[in-house]
Amino acid sequence: MSTHTLITGPTSGIGLALAEALAARGEPLLLVARRADALAALAADLRQRHGAEVIEHACDLADAAQVELLAQRIERQAPGLKLLINNAGFATCGAFDEQDWRSELDLLQVNVVSLARLCHAAARRMKADGGGQILNVSSVSGFMPGPWMSNYAASKAYVLHFSEGLREELAGHKVGVSVLCPGTTRSPFFGKAGINLDKIEAGGAPVMTPEAVARITLAALPRNPAIIVPRWINRVLAVSPRFGPRSLLRKVVGRLYRDAAAPAA
Ligand SMILES: NC(=O)c1ccc[n+]([C@@H]2O[C@H](COP(=O)([O-])OP(=O)(O)OC[C@H]3O[C@@H](n4cnc5c(N)ncnc54)[C@H](OP(=O)(O)O)[C@@H]3O)[C@@H](O)[C@H]2O)c1
Repeated sequence: MSTHTLITGPTSGIGLALAEALAARGEPLLLVARRADALAALAADLRQRHGAEVIEHACDLADAAQVELLAQRIERQAPGLKLLINNAGFATCGAFDEQDWRSELDLLQVNVVSLARLCHAAARRMKADGGGQILNVSSVSGFMPGPWMSNYAASKAYVLHFSEGLREELAGHKVGVSVLCPGTTRSPFFGKAGINLDKIEAGGAPVMTPEAVARITLAALPRNPAIIVPRWINRVLAVSPRFGPRSLLRKVVGRLYRDAAAPAA
């Protein structure tokens, strides 16, 4: 039976806000996080405050072997999946060739390869179960090149295009696929990437809370939208690449990201 919502990366930011909102509604959850202690604390808190059913699955999504075990669990074992939310992701910021290659590889593994693997397992399971829904988290960055965050922006472009393609493939099987493209959202994401959020905000970027992103997303999901871009100003940013030369777009976005990279300590 398709009952559970699987959320990757529920320990902070948008994933936490989604987990909180779904638990408050009494939705059974399967939470996937790499830090077992943070996962256990979150699960206990959601059970205690909301009486929610929460299954914990510790998994480092940068580790292909651990992701394989999770994919097999999705494909073969109970519980069934009502909704898969591929939220976990991270960014690096700065000149690509100056980054640690291990971090860039981990980024591709977490943001791209693991997301695709979990979609592969969930699609099979949902088709066999007669339906389901997948929500992949991309970004407004996925609509444009991102100099000084080149690998991240490209990973989110993959998520956007992959999700739209998969949506068409699964439409006849009662499996919905939506892609969430948030704009700048206040979360630990920026600190982890060494990005100075204050500089981005000072540059005029609209900043949302994770709770607002979660609220808009969960309100939209029952309509099975192809693409969710919370807030009108982010929708303007998402379509802006169509209206100017890409050479200008590369310069403007690159300037923003280069300036936002925090100075080295
Ligand atoms: N914040 C923004 O402005 C923004 C804008 C557009 C799109 N997004 C996207 O939204 C999603 C959520 O980001 P957020 O802003 O909520 O950031 P966040 O607060 O840093 O949350 C990211 C989550 O992903 C998890 N994660 C990272 N690497 C992982 C790994 N190897 N294995 C398992 N889990 C891992 C983190 O777990 P740990 O706590 O263990 O690191 C955390 O729970 C990401 O895909 C991000 O790219 C964010």
